[in-house]
Amino acid sequence: VIDAIRAMTKEDLPFVLHLWRTTDGLTLSEDVDSPEALNEFVSRNQAHCFVIEHGKRIIGAIIGGTDGRRGYLYHLAVAQDQRKKGYGRALAESCAKSFEQIGILKCHAMVRSDNPEGRGFWEHLGWQRREDVEILSFISPRLRDC
Ligand SMILES: CC(C)(COP(=O)(O)OP(=O)(O)OC[C@H]1O[C@@H](n2cnc3c(N)ncnc32)[C@H](O)[C@@H]1OP(=O)(O)O)[C@@H](O)C(=O)NCCC(=O)NCCS
Repeated sequence: VIDAIRAMTKEDLPFVLHLWRTTDGLTLSEDVDSPEALNEFVSRNQAHCFVIEHGKRIIGAIIGGTDGRRGYLYHLAVAQDQRKKGYGRALAESCAKSFEQIGILKCHAMVRSDNPEGRGFWEHLGWQRREDVEILSFISPRLRDC
C-alpha cells in the first residue's frame, strides 16, 4: 500500500478537487480551496501532501502543512469504492512521518464535529481526541467577499 503513495503535484489538483468534492464529510472553503490557493499551499508544503493513484485515477489524498511549530492535516479522503484497504492509514501515517522527519513531533488532524466517522478513523489509528484544547477562530469580514 505504501508503494502506491506519492507526493502531490500541481497537475494532480483538478483530480484531487474532484475526489474531495465527491466525498461526504469534507467541507471545502472557497478561499483556501480554490485551485490557486491549493497550488500555493501544495508548493509550500510539498513534503507533506500526498496522493494515491490507482490506474490513472486519484483515489486518495491528504494535504498537510506546517508553520514550523506543529503540523496540520486537512482533507484526508479515500474514494468510496477503495476504502478499508489501508489507503487512509497510509496517507495519514505518511503525512505524520513527513513532519517527524523535520522534527515536528506533534500534528493535528482537522475533523468537523459533525463527522463522527472521520473522528472514529483517527481514534482507531491512535490519535488523541483533545478535551483540553478548543479552536477559536478570528474570521475576517473579507471572507464574505471570497
Ligand atoms: C476516513 C477515511 C479516509 C478512511 O479511509 P480508508 O482507506 O477506508 O481507511 P483504512 O482502510 O486505511 O483504515 C485504517 C484502519 O482504520 C479503520 N477504520 C476505517 N474507517 C474507520 C472509521 N470510520 N471508524 C473507525 N475505524 C475505521 C479500518 O478498519 C482500519 O483498521 P485496521 O488497520 O486496524 O485494520 C475514508 O473513510 C474517507 O475518505 N472518509 C470520508 C472523508 C473523511 O471523513 N475524512 C476524515 C476526516 S478529515
